[in-house]
Amino acid sequence: MSRVAVVTGGTRGIGHAISARLKADGMRVAALYSGNDEAAMHTREELEIIVLKCDVAESLECRSVLAEIESLLGPVDVLVNNAGITRDATLHKMNDNDWDRVIRVDLNGLYNMTRPVIEGMRARGFGRIINISSINGQKGQFGQTNYSAAKAGVIGFTKALALENARKGITVNAIAPGYIDTDMVAHVPHDVLEQIKAGIPVGRLGRPEEVAACVSFLAAEEQAFITGSTLTVNGGQYLA
Ligand code: CAA
Repeated sequence: MSRVAVVTGGTRGIGHAISARLKADGMRVAALYSGNDEAAMHTREELEIIVLKCDVAESLECRSVLAEIESLLGPVDVLVNNAGITRDATLHKMNDNDWDRVIRVDLNGLYNMTRPVIEGMRARGFGRIINISSINGQKGQFGQTNYSAAKAGVIGFTKALALENARKGITVNAIAPGYIDTDMVAHVPHDVLEQIKAGIPVGRLGRPEEVAACVSFLAAEEQAFITGSTLTVNGGQYLA
């Protein structure tokens, strides 16, 4: 029986590429999204996967959507915590909501999604948890105290959870993408983005499919010995 994979933020950008890749790998995929109904409908038709609405910042929503997925597809084997948002501002201009929302989605979302599935993975002796961090959680970024804190937290969460579950057939890894060609990066002011691009040794933005290929690698059945690691996918922009 093919594995069941859940991808948060799975209908746009990097998440869409991950959903497509895991489907192509033969998994039964459920993609979650929180806001953009149009992109969600499009992904559902294009990839022929289950697409459900869920705000990962809300623990009750996560519990109920995961129960729904389990009743539709069976127990979750692969969880990709990809959902993330930015609310960029220097700290001296940041408001409470911008801080809070980024931490709740980008960091608390991992707890809300992982807590309901971890016991089942342990009982069944198999799991692949892949958390999408960021280059900016590794190196910090001007204007992103909220996002950098959350994404650094993702790496700490990954390491601790990897240790707790290493003997249970569960691997837990993070991927730290650099600047990838998505809507999120398109919102960076043009002049700032040009400067950032100039600092990428490979000489271009990354492609969502390049991150998705790493998820596929870490999610593979035969890949059971990499755990607690952070895979850096940034075109050489920051060598962690
Ligand atoms: N380093 C040092 N100084 C910088 C700087 C930098 N990187 N960027 C701007 N500054 C300076 C400006 O030159 C300016 O200086 P002066 O006042 O002397 O002219 C000053 O800082 C501006 O500071 P402000 O607080 O007034 O900043 P602002 O309100 O104009 O805008 C910002 C700040 C919103 C953060 C804007 O710079 C910005 O959007 N930056 C992009 C942040 C970024 O990279 N986000 C990534 C989004 S994509 C993503 O996150 C995906 C992923 O995982 C990689």
